[in-house]
Amino acid sequence: MLLKLKPEQLRPGMYVILPSNWLHHPFLKNSFLLRNRQQIEKIMRSGFEEVMIDTSKGISMPLQESEQAALLKGGEASEENAPEESENASCEPESIVPEILNKAVASGLGAEEKARIIYWSSLEIMGKLFADPRAEKIAQAKKGIFQVVDAVFSEDMATHLIKLFRHDLCTYTHSVNVGMLSILLAKSFFKGQAGHNFGELGAGFFLHDIGKSRIDPGIINKPGLLTESEWEQMKAHPKAGYDLLLESGQLTEESRVIVMQHHERENGSGYPMGLKGSQIFPYARICRMADVFDALTSTRPYHKKRSAFEALNLMKKSMCFKDELFTKFVRLFGDGAN
Ligand SMILES: [Fe+2]
Ligand SMILES: [Fe+2]
Repeated sequence: MLLKLKPEQLRPGMYVILPSNWLHHPFLKNSFLLRNRQQIEKIMRSGFEEVMIDTSKGISMPLQESEQAALLKGGEASEENAPEESENASCEPESIVPEILNKAVASGLGAEEKARIIYWSSLEIMGKLFADPRAEKIAQAKKGIFQVVDAVFSEDMATHLIKLFRHDLCTYTHSVNVGMLSILLAKSFFKGQAGHNFGELGAGFFLHDIGKSRIDPGIINKPGLLTESEWEQMKAHPKAGYDLLLESGQLTEESRVIVMQHHERENGSGYPMGLKGSQIFPYARICRMADVFDALTSTRPYHKKRSAFEALNLMKKSMCFKDELFTKFVRLFGDGAN
């Protein structure tokens, strides 16, 4: 059972689950058994207002003094004895999917809290995958994405998810935003229709820019405008992603086509193939819509961050997004499009 607590309510013996990815706290893992006060003080200093505990893996109430003494036998554990280290001793390769995602999806948490865990877990999955996009990691990421898609389909959390979006320059943040928006749009657009494998589609949406892991990071992270030659290299990322996923054997052809076609445009001015209209796979059109929106609402070297309303307005008036798919897309934002 998952319980929410304030950090000062934590006690040694509780199994804590931190509400963020590893970039936002000083521990090696997001979830672990608390063995000493130093760990609790460190969590308090990290600035979290609330954390969760898993009572199936640790205590739910403060221990009696004698129990605490037994737990802490051998003295206050040093950092070397910290559980996040010892738990890594398993022979199993560690999954890039945080355990908290499995728990949250199966829990009775409210939609807002669940959305927060799902979003942060997705950032962690994609951050780790871009750092190490081997087939084994893609397979792990896919399992995590399937859970995310199941959760998104099982309840209404669009508003909560969209509010959580970060708008930085990280490719993995962009991948999560586009993955989330695309799956929400697919859910809305194909509602009630049979024949869509949304888990597989979700994998294609989240991994649409995985080809950037094969492009020179100096180009991907360049703070200014790209030269013509750099732009040519950048335009290779859809094909590079398709090839990477083909080699991995982890995604269906339908999902790989999303990756290949997500920069194609209705009028044929897109890349890499210059496809037009119905030549572009509908799933890839969904991904492109989300991709353009996320680019417009994030800070880029060549433009400032726009509000959702400004971005949707620009897409409609200057970028010819006008069809039924776009209408469904606008509806995702509801009152939040400002
Ligand atoms: Fe892309
Ligand atoms: Fe993208």
